[in-house]
Amino acid sequence: MHPIIDSFQKAGQGQVFSFFDQLTPEGQSRLIAEAAEIDLVEVERLNRTLVAKSAAVGVDLDGLAPAPYEPLPLHGGNAAAWQEAKRAGEAALRAGRVAAFTVAGGQGTRLGFDGPKGTFPVTPLTRKPLFQVFAEKILAAGRRYGRPIHWFIMTSHQNHAATEAFFLERRHFGLDAAYVHFFRQGRMPAVTFDGKIMLETIGSLALSPDGHGGSLRALERSGALDLMTREGIDILSYFQVDNPLVRCIDPAFIGWHVVSGSEMSSKMIPKAYAGEKVGHFCTQRGKTVVVEYSDLPAALQAEVDPATGQLRYLAGSIALHVLSRDFIRRMAAGGEGVALPFHRADKKIPTVDAAGRPVKPEKPNGIKFEMFVFDALPYAARPLVIETLRADDFSPVKNAEGVDSPQTCRDDQMRQFARWLNAHGAGLAVDATGRPVIPVEVSPLFGYDEDSFADAWRRLPAPPVAGPAGLLLD
Ligand code: UD1
Repeated sequence: MHPIIDSFQKAGQGQVFSFFDQLTPEGQSRLIAEAAEIDLVEVERLNRTLVAKSAAVGVDLDGLAPAPYEPLPLHGGNAAAWQEAKRAGEAALRAGRVAAFTVAGGQGTRLGFDGPKGTFPVTPLTRKPLFQVFAEKILAAGRRYGRPIHWFIMTSHQNHAATEAFFLERRHFGLDAAYVHFFRQGRMPAVTFDGKIMLETIGSLALSPDGHGGSLRALERSGALDLMTREGIDILSYFQVDNPLVRCIDPAFIGWHVVSGSEMSSKMIPKAYAGEKVGHFCTQRGKTVVVEYSDLPAALQAEVDPATGQLRYLAGSIALHVLSRDFIRRMAAGGEGVALPFHRADKKIPTVDAAGRPVKPEKPNGIKFEMFVFDALPYAARPLVIETLRADDFSPVKNAEGVDSPQTCRDDQMRQFARWLNAHGAGLAVDATGRPVIPVEVSPLFGYDEDSFADAWRRLPAPPVAGPAGLLLD
């Protein structure tokens, strides 16, 4: 018997090979190869912990309190310290110590878009895809600081080939291809409610991406951390693929991380309303943790701080982090007590019945496991949370319509462009929400943040003129 089949049988997972005899030799090899990816010890541990527990068991809220954060000068923060941080970040960028990192392995099911999410057209006028927006910001920042910036992109098995093809076809949006690095994240098998690894078809396992937390081990496995070491890069700027407003490279953020000697730093925004679907920065037993919106009881989310009149759990996580290379390496190595936990999600998982016929379940029939990157925070030395303005850093595209949709995101981009323009006297007419009345787009290659915009603006020979489609600065 094949040793992989043997090990599955010994682990009580022999059902994976129920239809093995019906497969072609190639099909058999494929199934064996998939099975070889599975860490049976890990699955067994998850079965003993997460699967055995009922899904209803909540998270541990014992000793939870809101995490402190460094407020912006606008909200009473120390302006001199912010200036110093920015200078430190600029110095790190000039020294070539910083790389950008996008997690783009998610399936984007809520948006209902067929294809890697980063290929979704997102800008208001020219409909640039998300990847192009990031590429141009990274290109422009590299030029500004005199050092091209390496960019790591984590894909999934499902979208890896399509993502690479997209970049090739668009000539890496002007970036040097040698500075753009793709790697796949790991996969986890789905299990039934009694812990049996599920098949998707008779010849394949029900596998899914292991969550953005899987990025830490994938960075190690892919050789990205070695590359960083060779290139003298020790700081990674982490962001999600769904948020074109993000300052992928933000000197103040990077500088706060450097100055405070933090191993993992994060940005928060004040939550807009109690029920806003973001994670919350909290402290618990002396550690910084993020508690997901689905895990923090509504009553706590609604608590108001009498001293400020604001929400007590105000600090929303927008999934922006700066991580130190050696910290990632330590997390990836794992070992006792230094591993990201898995989270359980009960899902409708397409599978096969006892006769091998396809089954499309109507209700959840199994469990998927995911790791979350913010679960690394409790392991980081001197973790730091700094404030940012939503308008400067956060407008994700998550849903086809309504909140966090392509429309709200285009509007937010235009508000930002109009703000920059009007700060320099462009006199653009805007509505009560700050949205310009004509369509406006500023290419990141013109200006990708307030400073770079201001410099480019000063160099303009004459004020820009709007065309029939709107105002475009590129
Ligand atoms: C996430 C955060 C939430 C935060 C919000 C801000 C989690 C659990 N929640 O919510 O705290 O406030 O973003 O927008 O993360 N991804 C992978 N591989 C995976 C899964 C996801 O690369 O296996 C990537 C996606 O491509 C995306 C990002 O991670 O870039 C976020 O994933 P998503 O599932 O959309 O998170 P949200 O539930 O929106």
